[in-house]
Amino acid sequence: MKTTLSIIKADIGSIGGHIMPSKKLIKRVIEFVESEGKGLVSDFFVSHTGDDIAILFAHTNGVGFEKLHKLAWDAFLAGTQVAKKQGLYGAGQDLLKDSFSGNVKGMGPAVAEMEFEERPNEPFVMFAADKTDPGAYNLPLYLMFCDPMYNSGLILSPNMAKGFKFVIMDVEHTEGDKVIELNAPEELYDIAALLRDNERYVVESVWSRETGEIAAAACTSRLHNIAGKYTGKDDPVMLVRCQGPFPATGEVLAPFNIGHYVAGFMRGSHTGPLMPVKMNSSVSYFDGPPVVSAMGFCVHEGKLTEAADCFDHPYWDYIRNNVSRKATEIRQQGFSGAAMLPYSELEYGGIVKKMEKLEPKFKVRG
Ligand code: F6R
Ligand code: MG
Ligand code: MG
Repeated sequence: MKTTLSIIKADIGSIGGHIMPSKKLIKRVIEFVESEGKGLVSDFFVSHTGDDIAILFAHTNGVGFEKLHKLAWDAFLAGTQVAKKQGLYGAGQDLLKDSFSGNVKGMGPAVAEMEFEERPNEPFVMFAADKTDPGAYNLPLYLMFCDPMYNSGLILSPNMAKGFKFVIMDVEHTEGDKVIELNAPEELYDIAALLRDNERYVVESVWSRETGEIAAAACTSRLHNIAGKYTGKDDPVMLVRCQGPFPATGEVLAPFNIGHYVAGFMRGSHTGPLMPVKMNSSVSYFDGPPVVSAMGFCVHEGKLTEAADCFDHPYWDYIRNNVSRKATEIRQQGFSGAAMLPYSELEYGGIVKKMEKLEPKFKVRG
């Protein structure tokens, strides 16, 4: 049986600034999907990561299915009504277009989808991140699929011996999807050369070269490319299948122990370490640090198990402490150098005006 997993996620309003959505808002989204999704989805799961609500759908309609995308869009509109009534900050923030036009891709919400023939047991992990952009998954994906230091299955398991194919998108190209396919391990250095640039090259999907099956799907949309200006960080989602011809769940989670520095901290304009957090966590320190949650599931005949909260384990408390230290250290240098993002990634246009005002005041000495 072919099953499709679709995560569609949006920031449609939150309490106390960009901290977390309200209970009423989340309840409305769940109720909407429950009533309007009948006959369309076989199961669904709603969670929030920071100020973003993610809906995970299981269904049989394939990726990019219009009715499913409309269901998510309408659920977010219904949630936005509640956000407006409650006076939440940034109500409807990620719904960038006035009317639905076939697919939420390019309309604001983040999307990650994959279709596959269900194995007798089908474990996977959904990731949702807040206060960062899609390139945040570049390094973890590289390590979990290419590096035997993280994925010992690459040397121990016959199921992964041929490695994986990466589909990577140039997200600066806005007239259509510009993608490249590269194979690990042969083209490892080419993959690394692209993935070092998190703001420009983003992994769209990863495929098993043993079986030809999809292994991972991540979202590639950059809100500022859609809106023409920064309206918030993209806060990406991702699906990764585990075990068998894919990395073990522990190997999928392991790279997140680095707390690598990503874009999106404070005002979406600073660099910060990506902290692995428990399901339904808020943000706090300097509206951050950037956070990522991981929910493990099995799907069987279209039905999801309950979520296993993958970063809710004592080990990750130790990591969270380390990442807190990294966050404190980089924030201590405020606006200086690497702490603040380059002009192209700042969420505010104000500084450009400031520079324009200052420019004529410069004098060139003879
Ligand atoms: C991402 C997010 C941030 C904000 C940024 C600017 O989810 O919430 O990237 O967009 O902090 O927010 P304002 O200017 O609304 O305070
Ligand atoms: Mg936000
Ligand atoms: Mg957000």
